Amino acid sequence: MAEKFYITTPIYYVNARPHIGHAYTTIVCDAIARRQRMLGKDTFFLTGTDEHGVHVERAAIAAGVPAQQWADEVSAAFRRLWDRLGLTYDKFIRTTDEEHKRGVQEMFRRLRDRGFIYKGQYTGQYCVFDELYVDSAGPGAPCPECGRPTETVSEENYYFKLSAFEDQLLRHYQQNPQFIRPESRRNEVMSFVRSGLRDLSISRSTFKWGVPVPDDPGHVIYVWLDALSNYCTALGFGSPHKADQERFAKYWPADVHMIGKEIVRFHCVYWPAFLMAAGLELPGSIIAHGWLLFEQSKMSKSRGNIVRAETIVDTLGADALRYFLLREIVFGQDGSFSFDALVQRYNSDLANDLGNLASRTLTMIGRYFSGGVPAAASQARTEADDNIAATARHAIGEFNRWFADFQFSRALEAAWSLVSAVNRYIVENQPWVLDEKGDEASRARLATVLYTSAEALRIVTALLHPVLPEATRRMWAQIGLNDIQRVGPQDLAWGQLQPGTQTGKVEPVFPRADKSAVERMQTMEEQGRGSSQEKSLATAAGSSGATAQPSASQPGNTTPSNKSTAATDGKISIDDFAKVELRVGQVKVAEKVQNADKLLRLEVDIGTEVRQVVAGIAEAYTPESLLGRKVVIVANLAPRKLRGLESNGMIVAASVGEQGRPVLCGFLEDVPVGARLK
Ligand code: ME8
Ligand code: MG
Repeated sequence: MAEKFYITTPIYYVNARPHIGHAYTTIVCDAIARRQRMLGKDTFFLTGTDEHGVHVERAAIAAGVPAQQWADEVSAAFRRLWDRLGLTYDKFIRTTDEEHKRGVQEMFRRLRDRGFIYKGQYTGQYCVFDELYVDSAGPGAPCPECGRPTETVSEENYYFKLSAFEDQLLRHYQQNPQFIRPESRRNEVMSFVRSGLRDLSISRSTFKWGVPVPDDPGHVIYVWLDALSNYCTALGFGSPHKADQERFAKYWPADVHMIGKEIVRFHCVYWPAFLMAAGLELPGSIIAHGWLLFEQSKMSKSRGNIVRAETIVDTLGADALRYFLLREIVFGQDGSFSFDALVQRYNSDLANDLGNLASRTLTMIGRYFSGGVPAAASQARTEADDNIAATARHAIGEFNRWFADFQFSRALEAAWSLVSAVNRYIVENQPWVLDEKGDEASRARLATVLYTSAEALRIVTALLHPVLPEATRRMWAQIGLNDIQRVGPQDLAWGQLQPGTQTGKVEPVFPRADKSAVERMQTMEEQGRGSSQEKSLATAAGSSGATAQPSASQPGNTTPSNKSTAATDGKISIDDFAKVELRVGQVKVAEKVQNADKLLRLEVDIGTEVRQVVAGIAEAYTPESLLGRKVVIVANLAPRKLRGLESNGMIVAASVGEQGRPVLCGFLEDVPVGARLK
């Protein structure tokens, strides 16, 4: 029976729609899962959404929709994006799934029955944003993770005896050096545990949006116990059905939990302690990667400095995003995203190096051998050909070694050493000159050079399949082969390309991106975010229709010049539109926000109240010009912070020209403050 491999992503909060930070983790896991399948492993790849907790409930309230409906919409947006990116998850779990809730309750029961849960009074600070108890802080103190003020909670709670697991955890870390990776995170966790563990409150009674505690429905289970349990419940933990129990027995424990570094403590301290207490096996490795930075800080929904994957997929294809993230970022460390770097990588590595290797090799086979792969003539063989075969063997070995060690950028460098070597080989051996000569010896040499190039192309295509699934599928077909997904390690050995293989139609897999691609993507993002940079939430707050994707375009197959940002198939119903509360407001106060060139702080009277709104319109309007002006505001948008200022709503503006200059919406007739737009 094939060996199993179980890999998970974090399950993402549904308080805002996905950005390329979420895509990063999920893409990395997809590449690993694809490679494991190629290696013949029986692979299970899990992702999903984390839907309970106070901050999700608050986001829904702010949007004026029931929590479940809100969760349905945002969860669907995640799933749609993963499908659009072609990610091969085996299950998409939602913590609002009935099977999951049942499993979490079973987990709670187990911890309780085994004596690790007791009831007690909790008074202390809680960070709603991170769903984190901050025992060390006094009232109003900032959360050590995100800096937001913590809230004082005082309630009777169920406690988990975390303190009982100090020694057992430390022993596990020591005996299993692979358990927490990279090493730096492992050291942090070990010193955290050594400094002493306090028992953990694992229920809340002040709100309802969660999984009820078994036999005590006045309490809901702490969202992190709920969320972490997904890794087990997704397989069938807690189910009465035999098939589920068998699946759980087969795949658990996870081989890899892939996470971002900010949730290390939950995964490396709480989770293993819960598992130990429940008598379940621990995962093999928890791997924490670094953050994707944009405009100098962590890309995050709360900062609003996000880039949407859709923008990149529309312009350059999903494979370009995958390649960039795996090649450009040193896995484990923080890495900056920029559109310039993305386009540069795309053009130099994909369009030039790999794309050229494919198109020139196949074009010459078409031209000189009517599209049939020629046989290498042994009498025409030289050292240069042997060198290519040796380089291929070496590149495969290096690629595998680095990839298995999660050093994706190095693995790709190794693959590119082969690409460059073959490109050089082609230039040095000048097939076009050999063709012109036309004598028998030259013809034999030409056949050998093109066989060698095509065989190297075949190998590099197979090797890169987990990283560039769509592009390599097309390249594979152009070489004249089928079923790249069935390729295994044995297919990487040199010399398996059959002479006579009829190559397919040669089409560029990575059309060159022109200079305007960068600007186009930037404009798409600015429009996506809206003038006050709040569209990211507005979209999630709106409706499923509002998050509709542009119609399916073939990833990797898009011509960079003819894509628009419009969501043409995303029609919404009148009910969906009615969810967006647009009102006439009047600006009462307007001032610049310090150290933010684009932002103005406004106080807007909307009839029932005066709202503070932070809007990205400072480059187009002076504060004075706005005083007394009537504007349109989205009144039921979830509040959010910009530069530390809470913004309650969004000013509607047209986005004009290449730069997306905001022009405020207004009326020709006089309209009363507070009037609703319908
Ligand atoms: O923490 N760079 O959910 P979340 C890299 N629900 N990765 C990023 C990123 C960035 N800028 N932004 C997000 C939660 N991520 C919990 C998890 S698991 C049982 C519960 C990725 O929506 C990264 O994987 O805040 C990070 O850990 C995760 O999204 C956090 O997603
Ligand atoms: Mg987070």
